[in-house]
Amino acid sequence: MSNTSNIETAAQYIREGKLVAFPTETVYGLGANALNPMAVAKIFELKERPSFDPLIIHIAHIGQLEKLVQGKDERVYQLAEKFWPGPLTMVLPKSTLVPDLVTSGLPTVGIRMPGNAIALELIRTSGCPVAAPSANKFGRISPTTAAHVKKQLPNIDYILDGGKTSVGIESTIIKLTDLGFQILRNGIITLEELEAVVPFDGHTEIESLSAPGMMKSHYSPRKRLLIADSASMNADKSKAGLISFSGKLESGYRKVIRVSERKDLKDYAVNIFEAMHTFEDDPDIEVMVAEPVSETGIGKAIMDRLRKAAYNWRQA
Ligand code: TXA
Ligand code: MG
Repeated sequence: MSNTSNIETAAQYIREGKLVAFPTETVYGLGANALNPMAVAKIFELKERPSFDPLIIHIAHIGQLEKLVQGKDERVYQLAEKFWPGPLTMVLPKSTLVPDLVTSGLPTVGIRMPGNAIALELIRTSGCPVAAPSANKFGRISPTTAAHVKKQLPNIDYILDGGKTSVGIESTIIKLTDLGFQILRNGIITLEELEAVVPFDGHTEIESLSAPGMMKSHYSPRKRLLIADSASMNADKSKAGLISFSGKLESGYRKVIRVSERKDLKDYAVNIFEAMHTFEDDPDIEVMVAEPVSETGIGKAIMDRLRKAAYNWRQA
């Protein structure tokens, strides 16, 4: 676990333009000083991330927001009041202070204040906003423990270990339009919760370019992943691992990871990436099968992760 001296060391690394992996409440981030383009470039390099996929900037207090964005939108403060610190990223018009590398040349920047004490302390101690994508190789399974980070990024300068993350999937990303908000990525904060603060804009079309990092394939395990359906149910289960939610599909599988004893979708979110990592690393398992859930509330975010993880493995 981290202690203050670790955070001090990590902050020193950030100030020196190096990379630090750190826990947030969602997944581990791969952080660098957001205002130092040389440091930000190292993120893209280590992650093997294409330069068209913009980074989220993490802040520790609302005062940092004003310097990073242009204009003052009251709705941003209303949303921040309700959801920050927490797993909500807002895409806003960027100020000239934000390097183009961070936003992949877009006029907007994604910003969030993470709900994790170590992350907040790191940002505060560094004295700068911290740009951070999830701390995995591009396109692969997101990390929810320090060990997951180490597995994919063994050469990273420093990892702050804060144990397993409490939310488990990435932040909800929204963009504000004249009419309200649009969702660019689903997360644990749902449309319904956001709607209680700002109206949902179901009218303005989301340009494909407004969420450039949203690929069909993402979160991809190195082994075949199927979403359970009638076809996968008939497949040979003797080398298959089931990611189980309802408990109803479990018979015959070589191994079963039950993501929630109380059948709560929040637990599915907390455990989804860890379950994929576990089966990916398990020599007894050749195929993983994940149980789908209905696409309402948090179910939208779960199914988004499962579909993208399964995409490269889909049958033609
Ligand atoms: O929970 C999270 O958001 C985690 C933790 C570390 O904070 N971070 C994360 O970052 O998931 P990343 O890089 O894996 O995903 C960020 C995505 C990008 O792929 C992109 O689609 C979107 O955020 N994004 C960032 N800036 C944007 C912008 N200006 N406009 C549209 N989309 C943007
Ligand atoms: Mg990511």
